[in-house]
Amino acid sequence: SIVSKRYRTAYHFQPPKNWINDPNGPMYYNGIYHEFYQYNPNGSLWGNIIWGHSVSTDLINWIPVEPAIERDIPSDINGCWTGSATIISGDQPIIIYTGADKENRQLQNIVLPKNKSDPYLREWTKAGNNPVIQPVGPGLNASQFRDPTTGWIGPDGLWRIAVGAELNGYGAALLYKSQDFLNWTRVDHPLYSSNASSMWECPDFFAVLPGNSGGLDLSAEIPNGAKHVLKMSLDSCDKYMIGVYDLKRDTFMPDSVLDDRRLWSRIDHGNFYASKSFFDSKKGRRIIWGWTNETDSSSDDVAKGWAGIHAIPRTIWLDSYGKQLLQWPVEEIESLRRNEISHQGLELKKGDLFEIKGTDTSQADVEVDFELTSIDNADPFDPSWLLDVEKHCREAGASVQGGIGPFGLVVLASDNMEEHTAVHFRVYKSQQSYMILMCSDLRWSSLRSGMYTPAYGGFFEFDLQKERKISLRTLIDRSAVESFGGGGRVCIMARVYPVVLVDDGGAHMYAFNNGSTTVRVPQLRAWSMSRAEHK
Ligand code: FRU
Repeated sequence: SIVSKRYRTAYHFQPPKNWINDPNGPMYYNGIYHEFYQYNPNGSLWGNIIWGHSVSTDLINWIPVEPAIERDIPSDINGCWTGSATIISGDQPIIIYTGADKENRQLQNIVLPKNKSDPYLREWTKAGNNPVIQPVGPGLNASQFRDPTTGWIGPDGLWRIAVGAELNGYGAALLYKSQDFLNWTRVDHPLYSSNASSMWECPDFFAVLPGNSGGLDLSAEIPNGAKHVLKMSLDSCDKYMIGVYDLKRDTFMPDSVLDDRRLWSRIDHGNFYASKSFFDSKKGRRIIWGWTNETDSSSDDVAKGWAGIHAIPRTIWLDSYGKQLLQWPVEEIESLRRNEISHQGLELKKGDLFEIKGTDTSQADVEVDFELTSIDNADPFDPSWLLDVEKHCREAGASVQGGIGPFGLVVLASDNMEEHTAVHFRVYKSQQSYMILMCSDLRWSSLRSGMYTPAYGGFFEFDLQKERKISLRTLIDRSAVESFGGGGRVCIMARVYPVVLVDDGGAHMYAFNNGSTTVRVPQLRAWSMSRAEHK
């Protein structure tokens, strides 16, 4: 159908058809990247979940292969849910995933490749002793016990995994230990838990070195100075804590504990959930994948015949202060860039709108630096905005003049601006430093009714005395608008369904400034993005 074609992405990950949700078991093995995913083989709404499977040599072009895990044993008959891959004994891939049984209890199961020398690892065999972990033990709720992590080895040489759970009603990453990855025992305390929330889905646990964009393999030796990150999915978003992994007590200890979970750090401030990272031994980096659902209606999804995409795989690392994660689209995505256009030395005065011409505005990659001519007019920052950044983005929209900002990009805009998506910044002066607000405002993204169109937003701290340039990168891919602010300090993934996509090339793209301070654009580059192969 027209709708299906119009909104189907050109270079984000999607299987040929049907519903997908969480990325599962991402790994690099013998020259091939594997991406598995929660998949409904029968339609474009959630249900009948099995593991779809695609393979790639470059993380951009994908070959769909047969489903890897199907519902055929009592402990996964109602669904093969999320899980992770680990490479044990040097070269043995093994997957642990959650199955739902007929009472909808959640159990953990194991599969192994049938033939390790098949380059695509097309067939997977269930271990004979499934389920390997039962939903039993103190404080545990059998229907809130899922999404095991990749394994890591402790000082005692035993494997460990964490499982998302509700422990006595609170969010927890439960810890299990094993000698052989097949027989597991529960450790008497969780890896970490918090009474600030209920169930944590899709925990992810990994190590990072401050200021080092290289990744670490969690099952190899972790160097001194490394920090650990615990990521959990809740409240429709992916949050994380940075801390240390106390090897003696075998627990994660966050550097700071925030009782109000609205203040927890976020991987992405938009539509991005159930993410999972892996160590890419090919390039020595850590890559994170996340799921982005549709925000049109379920009847649209039925009409389209597909629903759900994965965000562009991102390199993820820790900033040099050890305070926040930074993310950037994997470099491979740049191979899709065509027809670079560039502008230097632009100046955007209050009210200026500069049209960026010469690229396919519905499939583009845009990188722009904004340089402040002065920081004197920064409006004061109010810390209470941090509790509900979306509310602040609605109030401080792209047309509301401020001291510094809003400035940014307007994408997927119709001739008369009736439809448009604005990605923009504002600079505020806080007590010690400057706080930058980044918004991705979808409120005018579609003339169609029934779409979910929030104004997403996040804040990041910025040392404007040292650095005056604020960068923005936005990847536009038909119904996807994925933005990286301040070099990956705030990421915002969004879905939009503009009618203006009907006529290709009909959409406009602009750089704008609606703040009273003039903003320079020392550099703006944009590319058309060609279609990746995988459809
Ligand atoms: C997260 C999630 C997981 C579960 C899977 C089921 O989106 O709810 O907790 O394993 O999806 O598809």
